[in-house]
Amino acid sequence: MHRLPAHTLLMAALGTGRNPRRLRATIARRRRQEKAMRRILIKNLLNSDHPQAEVRACGWVRTRRDAKGFSFLEVNDGSCLKNLQVIVAEDSPAFAALHEATTGAAVAIGGALVASPGAGQKWELKAAALEVLGPADPESYPLQKKRHSDEFLRTIAHLRPRTNKYGAIFRIRSEAAFAVHRFFRERGFFWLHSPILTGSDCEGAGEMFRVTTLPHAAPPPGGEDPFAADFFGREANLTVSGQLEAELFATALGNVYTFGPTFRAENSNTPRHAAEFWMIEPEMAFADLNDDMDLAEELVKAMTTHVMEHCREDLDLFARFVDKELMRNLEAIAAEPYVRLPYAEAVAILKRSGRAFEFPVDFGADLQTEHERFLCEEHFRKPVIVYDYPREIKAFYMRLNADEKTVAAMDLLVPRVGELVGGSQREERLAVLERRIAEAGMAAKPYWWYLDIRRFGSVPHAGFGLGFERFLMMATGVGNIRDVIPFPRTPKHLEF
Ligand code: 4AD
Ligand code: MG
Repeated sequence: MHRLPAHTLLMAALGTGRNPRRLRATIARRRRQEKAMRRILIKNLLNSDHPQAEVRACGWVRTRRDAKGFSFLEVNDGSCLKNLQVIVAEDSPAFAALHEATTGAAVAIGGALVASPGAGQKWELKAAALEVLGPADPESYPLQKKRHSDEFLRTIAHLRPRTNKYGAIFRIRSEAAFAVHRFFRERGFFWLHSPILTGSDCEGAGEMFRVTTLPHAAPPPGGEDPFAADFFGREANLTVSGQLEAELFATALGNVYTFGPTFRAENSNTPRHAAEFWMIEPEMAFADLNDDMDLAEELVKAMTTHVMEHCREDLDLFARFVDKELMRNLEAIAAEPYVRLPYAEAVAILKRSGRAFEFPVDFGADLQTEHERFLCEEHFRKPVIVYDYPREIKAFYMRLNADEKTVAAMDLLVPRVGELVGGSQREERLAVLERRIAEAGMAAKPYWWYLDIRRFGSVPHAGFGLGFERFLMMATGVGNIRDVIPFPRTPKHLEF
């Protein structure tokens, strides 16, 4: 409704000589009407502690049920899991538009919020007015009342947030992101906006997406730098991690974290890998591996506690339909201390287990998901932090331990997901870092700025990366990363 500024009305009244006191009363009345007709979130209507004579709700029709003399609409506006039940009586003016209010249609309803005689809901809305803002053809609307498979819903990822399950996931996702910022802000960390376009490969694994404005088939003229003519005049990629930049800022602001999208062109079609995913990467100056493990454990606990406190209704949906053990597991993750285990001991446990793993375990081999899950799901039955990995299987920037065989790395493993966090103390000694870069077969020159941090005021520092989607998989029990990110990007999939 159009809202006139109070002073406009007052000036008009003064101009025409009307009584200002009466006019103020008119304004107040008009404000009350405006307020009554403003859209109220269904979540707030359902939480009302009193009946309300005149309210307006908007949303999408989930179902319509016709009875003798009236119809029931279940309307959802995304503000919460629950629907608002709307009663449209045959003798109400709202009835005229009812025929168009089919599943999927967008509607606006005005009416009275009254106590509901029906079981399972406190309030219902008695419609006095019904407007169908956007009809949905019942023949072709893809979301029908029956349960759809996750695979099918991925093909309509533009509509799946209108289902109970996906609405719940994306509300939890939003709340979990808020928990991240809250956690770090309370501890004096600064949020660093690390760049998405980059000229360096943080993980040194070469799994990057190239960014270019060069025409498709430009064959690089013999011997010439193929990127000289490109936008940046050099090779550019989408970042795999904001860590290197976070290290630079940690050695200036002390404690920082990044939280944004990262990109990996690894061609692994697993339920745990996406080509675009969000990562949280704290970096702390004056910190070692123990501080790093402490922070990772605290963060996972705080995020878990936060969603348990703020997303109870949505989480209950997963506890009922996806994983019956969910709440018990989350409570343990939020409360119990995590196991801390050197890599060598983890290998010993796996070898002793007598399990026939698909991938063999031996000192020097990277732990696979099956090993990680065995450790935290069967052996310890709780989150496990494995640390001091062999140097050969970890990135160049991880601090070399005194044994010269292992690095001060740590992975936090959680039930059902495996690796949730990967981090390390960083190599702060210039000469050692230069040696490690050379050993990794990388060129040191593009990392001149990274090395500068070791030249000027170098300090022990540490950090980690937490995969945000992996956290959501853990928090909801959802088994596929494609179902906890709004629009998944995986090999051969880039719809929407
Ligand atoms: O272990 P990663 O590769 O570590 C890093 O990128 C470091 N630079 C982090 C740091 O120390 N600042 O990735 C960190 C986490 C993993 O533990 C995993 O949870 C998640 O990011 N992750 C992925 N999530 C979804 N899809 C992928 N392809 C992922 N790759 C890593
Ligand atoms: Mg890792």
